This record gives sequence, structure tokens and C-alpha cells, in this order.
Amino acid sequence: MSRSFYIKTMGCQMNEYDSDCLARSLITKGCIPVNDPAIADIILINTCAVRAKPEQKAVSFLGRMAAFKNKRPDLILGIVGCIAQQEGSRLIKRFPMLDLVMGPRQLEKFPEFLEKIIYDGKKIVATDLNSLPASPIHCKGYFRDKVSAFISVTEGCNNFCSYCIVPYVRGREVSRPPADIIAEASNLIADGVKEITLLGQNVISYHWNDCNFVSLLNEIAGLDGLLRIRFTTSHPKHLSKDVIQCFASIDKLCSHIHLPFQAGSDAILKSMRRGYSRDQYIILSEKLREADHDIAITSDVMVGFPGESEADFEQTLDLIRKVRFDNLFSFKYSDRKGTLAAKMQNKVSESLKIHRLEVLQKIQRQITLEKNQDLIGRHVQVLVEGQSKKGGQLTGRTSTNKIVNFISNNKKIGELVNVLIDSCTSNSLSG
Ligand code: 5AD
Ligand code: SF4
Repeated sequence: MSRSFYIKTMGCQMNEYDSDCLARSLITKGCIPVNDPAIADIILINTCAVRAKPEQKAVSFLGRMAAFKNKRPDLILGIVGCIAQQEGSRLIKRFPMLDLVMGPRQLEKFPEFLEKIIYDGKKIVATDLNSLPASPIHCKGYFRDKVSAFISVTEGCNNFCSYCIVPYVRGREVSRPPADIIAEASNLIADGVKEITLLGQNVISYHWNDCNFVSLLNEIAGLDGLLRIRFTTSHPKHLSKDVIQCFASIDKLCSHIHLPFQAGSDAILKSMRRGYSRDQYIILSEKLREADHDIAITSDVMVGFPGESEADFEQTLDLIRKVRFDNLFSFKYSDRKGTLAAKMQNKVSESLKIHRLEVLQKIQRQITLEKNQDLIGRHVQVLVEGQSKKGGQLTGRTSTNKIVNFISNNKKIGELVNVLIDSCTSNSLSG
């Protein structure tokens, strides 16, 4: 099946991983990746439904791709991921030129679906959420040029935070067998990967028989040839003493945790059904810094959740100033169909959400800048990932996940190097 393919990935790291799995299965079938959808025989759009904005982007991109199909009827056009799951056959009605609508729990069946589309001229809608996550096809050499790669270890989520669509579009939480994960990690390392990030909506709740997240982390850290290990995303409710201790005891574990707090007011946290208080979150951040003094803490936060008063918002700002995150991903709350929050009263106006987001981001930008400035004059260890966009420089990341651009005479991609930091912005460090 020698066809060219193009995959557009939108949304989170989980989608990046899923797109890589789809690419690997296409390559194994003899297909060739291309960078331009205008010349592709197969176009897949991997979508995200977590907020309104990525959803709108995906639908507009699909509209543009549909125009190619008008000119080239034998083009295969598919929408995959969370919007595919959410909308199912409604998408085919709205965009009759689609050949495939496939949810995130159906990826394993993709080769079978493709054959039905090509040889039987069928349209496929596949949105069963009950199938277990399968191991991706190993495609030797696929990660040859990459220093860093993801492995999904859990799929789905059982938390049902009141604003979140994830449990509805990715299904209930399931863990993959540790043997499959170790085999996947070993293949990546054999391909030259030096850093592995374990992925899951709620990765620290990983468990398979008597193997819990801490045992899995230790096993992977023990693999020869791997330099660094990371994991994301962690839920504060599941962050145990044992997991925190890993930052002190596992050398290869990077000094970074992404720990979404979402809101700083207890009333809003309760209404979000997050399962912790602001004080509990602050204590967790202190415990993390006790275990690893230099740990970078990043987080997700929302403004304008239904009922968020000025006082609630002030509590969010107060938490940001107390914890001093290294970086923060901040979003305006948006209604997601079918969630509890979408049905709540007291919605916050768009203009107030925009204002609150600006205020919050300004405070965080300053904190991020100050944290980066603290590193000026210090040596940091960087895993070199490639050439920087700025000519003549290399780029990589610190263990704390900060981007470093630096000048070096010899190529050291895939190696750990010490870099003396001499300047910074709030986005990156230079040395
Ligand atoms: N509106 C805005 N942001 C949301 N997120 C999740 N659901 C919503 C929503 N309905 C944010 C959360 C989450 C991140 C991935 O997206 O902050 O951690
Ligand atoms: Fe969504 Fe909450 Fe699950 Fe995260 S933990 S994916 S926010 S339901």
C-alpha cells in the first residue's frame, strides 16, 4: 500500500503519542509521511475536545482539508481523537466527504479500518470506548532522529472533574501491562531515545496487579542507555509520599512535576470536584521541594469557572504567588457539552474571563522570568535535542524542563552537557 500520508496533531501530548502510533502503523504498511497535506493520499486530523478553542481550530482545519477531497475524490480523509469520539456519526452527516471517524480507544483497529475504506469503499465510524489500550506497532528507526519520546501508560480518567470532557471521550482509566511498557521503552532506547516521558491523564494512579506507579518508574529508570525519565500529568489527589520520594531517590527522574491546581479557592475547587483544598495543594508543593530542592513545579489553571467571584479569583492569584510556579498553562473556562459545569448557573462573562486571564498571566510571566533569572551565572545540565531555530546554536532542556539555547563547537545531540547560563527571557535560557 504505497500511499503518502499527512497527520495533523492538535491538542495534548497524548495526541502526539497517538499520532506517532498511527504514523508507525502506516509506515509499516509501506506508506510514506509527507509534510504537505496538498500532496497526501491519506490525511488524518487528530483532534482535542478539552476546550472550545482547540475544537474550533480542528473543525476549521477539517473544512480546509475537505476542499482537497473535492478536487481529489480518492483522497482518504479521517478525523480521529476526542472530537471524533464526541461527535461520532454526526461528523459524517456534517462533512460527508469524511471516510473515517475514529475515537482514541480504537487506534489498534486502524489498519483494518483503512483496508475497509480502500478496498470496500466503506465509511467507518468507530467510537467504542471499552477496548483496552494496545501496544503500538514497533517501527524500527522511527525515533532514530529523536532524543525524547512518550509512552502512554494509562488511558482514560475516572475523576469526572465537573468541567472536563476527558472521561467521556477517552473512557474509564485503564493501565497497560508493565511488560508491554518495558518492551516499548527498550525499543525506543535501541532506536537512540535518551529521555522517556510516561503519559497518562492521571499517570500516578497507574497500577497493574502488584505493580504500582513507583515500581514502574524504578523499572524503567533501571534500563541501560536511558538518561532521563519524566511523567505527566499528575493529580494532586493521588500524589502520595512514595511518589514524592522518587524525586529524591531516582537519579534519572527529572526535577519537574506538572501538577494542575485549576483554582485557588476552596469553594471553586469543591464545585470543580477536584478532591483537595488550597492548603493541601500548598503543602504538596512544600513536600516536593523538601524532597528535591530544585524541583520545577508547573501547573494548569482556569479562570472564569461558573460562580468564580472576585474573591475566588484573588485566592487563585494568592496561590500562584505562594507556590511560585516555574510555568503555568492558563485557560478561560469553556462549557463542554455533557459535563456538570456546563449546566451550572452563574456563568462568568467572556470579558471578565479575558480580563482575569490577562491579570493572571502578567503575574506568572514575572514569576517565570524571576525564576529563570535565578539561573544566570549557574551551570545547568542540558540534554541536547537539536539545532536551535537561531542559527549556529544548539537547543535542549534542563532537568527542570526549561529550554536552553547555547553555542557549542561540536555536535552533541543526545548527550548531557553542562551549560553556563548568561541570559534569559521568560520563555528560555541562553548560555
Ligand atoms: N474549560 C477550560 N479549560 C479546561 N481544561 C479542562 N477542561 C476545561 C474547560 N472546560 C483545562 C484544564 C486542564 C487542561 C488540560 O485543560 O486546566 O488541566
Ligand atoms: Fe479531566 Fe479531571 Fe480527569 Fe484531568 S483528572 S482528565 S481534569 S477529569
